[in-house]
Amino acid sequence: MWLTAGLGILILFSVWRRIWLHEYRMHILHQKHALYQQPVTNIVWIPPDTHTIPHTAEGDLIRYGRLLVVHTARYLGPKGKIAHISNGMNCQNCHLAAGTLPFANNFSLVASTYPKYRARNDRVETVAFRVNACLKRSLNGEALDTNSREMKAFVAYLLWIGGQLHANSSAGSRTPTVWGAGTEKLNYLKRAADTNAGRMVFMTYCQNCHGRHGQGLWVDSTGEYQYPPLWGKHSYNTGAGMYRISQFAAFVKNNMPFGTSYLHPLLTDEQAWDVAAFVNTQPRQAYRDLKYDWPRIADKPVDYPFGPYADSFQEPQHKYGPFEEIEKARANISVKQQ
Ligand code: HEC
Ligand code: HEC
Repeated sequence: MWLTAGLGILILFSVWRRIWLHEYRMHILHQKHALYQQPVTNIVWIPPDTHTIPHTAEGDLIRYGRLLVVHTARYLGPKGKIAHISNGMNCQNCHLAAGTLPFANNFSLVASTYPKYRARNDRVETVAFRVNACLKRSLNGEALDTNSREMKAFVAYLLWIGGQLHANSSAGSRTPTVWGAGTEKLNYLKRAADTNAGRMVFMTYCQNCHGRHGQGLWVDSTGEYQYPPLWGKHSYNTGAGMYRISQFAAFVKNNMPFGTSYLHPLLTDEQAWDVAAFVNTQPRQAYRDLKYDWPRIADKPVDYPFGPYADSFQEPQHKYGPFEEIEKARANISVKQQ
């Protein structure tokens, strides 16, 4: 009898444990879901498989476009085989995995949102215009002719990668919100970002790959950087998105040191902001057409570091923060104007 009772208790215990474990797993899953997939209405974008690129002339163009994104330097860099019109970086250095990863500047929405109005140039931009913008700013280079095979390839790749999403959104009435598009918007710090603290972050977490002087590591035999530069004459220029510390911090928080992802970020938000401030205080090339940017000064993002501004805050605060007070002051101005 004792044996039967003992066995019974054991069975009951293992059943309870199973149920409990299941509940526990579900709880964790739920939490993950809540953390990473909110709001649930967001679409989770699954980039198309490169194997599905058709074996046609159009398919060849898409494949070439993907190559240009991944190995830009080999084609368009200082020793490029097509032209020498960029600084040696690859598009993929900032649009990770050929623009397919969440929170890593992916290309999910390009096909469905362009041509689109952008305030930086106060005009409607085509995909080609946007590609040239990154070429001139992030790759500190020259624009490609819209009719060149290279530009056609870039555009073909970008339209292909977001093609399904575009088809779905054209069928529906509006463009979907894609979970993980662009980068994660980090909370503002209550203080100004601190370049000294940022230097420490750089020395601890970045310098081993990107180099003591942020110069990166160029490999002659491959014709590209193994580790891209963070400043200096081969880095992005002052007109690039990365030159705004919110963009830099958001990208770095979820993707650097290389190998981390949004699932397990290594840096805290504070470290990300501080290292962004440090890196963007180092020397780099000036963008020659800077004066044409943000023609409507009220549209300048709070962390755009070049005046004049429509508010009364000075350049240093627009560069390093704190940004919340700028945002609040702007909100008040627009309320008054209504
Ligand atoms: C130094 C980093 C960097 C490099 C290199 C870079 N980009 Fe970008 N790119 C960005 C950032 C940051 C954004 C978004 C920020 C913004 O809108 O200003 C962006 C935005 C874009 C967009 C618009 C995405 C959208 O959804 O609106 C396209 C298209 C694009 N880049 C293409 C390219 C191509 C093609 C190359 C290579 C020729 C390239 N980029 C190289 C940083 C970079
Ligand atoms: C293990 C090596 C490694 C470490 C450590 C590392 N990175 Fe990177 N980083 C890379 C590589 C590789 C890329 C390019 C990714 C690609 O092309 O797929 C990159 C790209 C970047 C880019 C975009 C391209 C550019 O050069 O502007 C930035 C910004 C960046 N890293 C910042 C940082 C910061 C800040 C840290 C420290 C917090 C850091 N990285 C630590 C390897 C590293």
